[in-house]
Amino acid sequence: MKNVCVLVSGGGSNLQSLIDHVQNGTLAVHLCGVIASRDGVYALERAKQNGIPYQVVARKDFASKEAYNEAMLQAIERTGAEYLVLAGFLSILGETVIHRYANRILNIHPALLPSFGGKGYYGLKVHQAALDYGVKVTGATVHFVDEGTDTGPIVLQESLAIAPEDTAESLQQRVMEIEHRILPRAVSLLVQGRLHVEGRHVSIEEEER
Ligand code: GAR
Repeated sequence: MKNVCVLVSGGGSNLQSLIDHVQNGTLAVHLCGVIASRDGVYALERAKQNGIPYQVVARKDFASKEAYNEAMLQAIERTGAEYLVLAGFLSILGETVIHRYANRILNIHPALLPSFGGKGYYGLKVHQAALDYGVKVTGATVHFVDEGTDTGPIVLQESLAIAPEDTAESLQQRVMEIEHRILPRAVSLLVQGRLHVEGRHVSIEEEER
C-alpha cells in the first residue's frame, strides 16, 4: 500500500474523513504520518487516537524560511511518504518539497477554484468572500500543488447552490460535506495511478467494469 502523509493546521475533519475511508476499506492507502503546522490543533488528537505517527513543524520555531523548509522536508521524509495531502494546511510548502513530490501532492480548497483562492483565502474567509460577491454556486476543489497558492491543475470539483439563508458558517459546513467526499476519492485515484496530468489538464482513467 502507498504511504500517504497528511499535512494539517486545524480541526482535521478532512484528516478524519481519510482515516474513516481507510478504515471502511474505500481508500487503500497507509496513512504514514501527520504533520501539523502548529501545536495543539485537534487534528493531532485524531492522529494520536488512530495510532498515526505525528510531528509538529511550526514556521515560528525557525529563524529562516530556508531552515523551516529543510525541517519540513526532513519531517516528511521521516514518515516515508510517497504522496502528500494538504488537508486544511495553512502554511506554504517550500519549492524543494513541491519539486520532489511533483504531481504527488493534493490540496483541498473550500471553493470552486480559481474563484476565492490564493493568499489570504482560507477557512471561513473563503465562504464570506463567496457570499459577499453574491455568487449563486460554490463548492470544493481538489487540485495538485504547484509553486503557486491554489493554482495547480484541478483534479475534482463539486458544487452546491447557495441558499438565501446561507451564512459563512452554514456554507462551510455544507462545503465540508463535499470535501469529505472528494478528497478521499482524489487520493484513491492518485495512488492508483489513474490521474494523468498534461499542463493544466488532469484526465481521470475510469475503472474497468
Ligand atoms: C477545510 O475547509 C479546507 O478546505 C480549508 O480549511 C478547512 C480545514 O478543515 N482549507 C483552506 O482553506 C486552504 N486554503 P479541517 O481541518 O477540518 O479539515
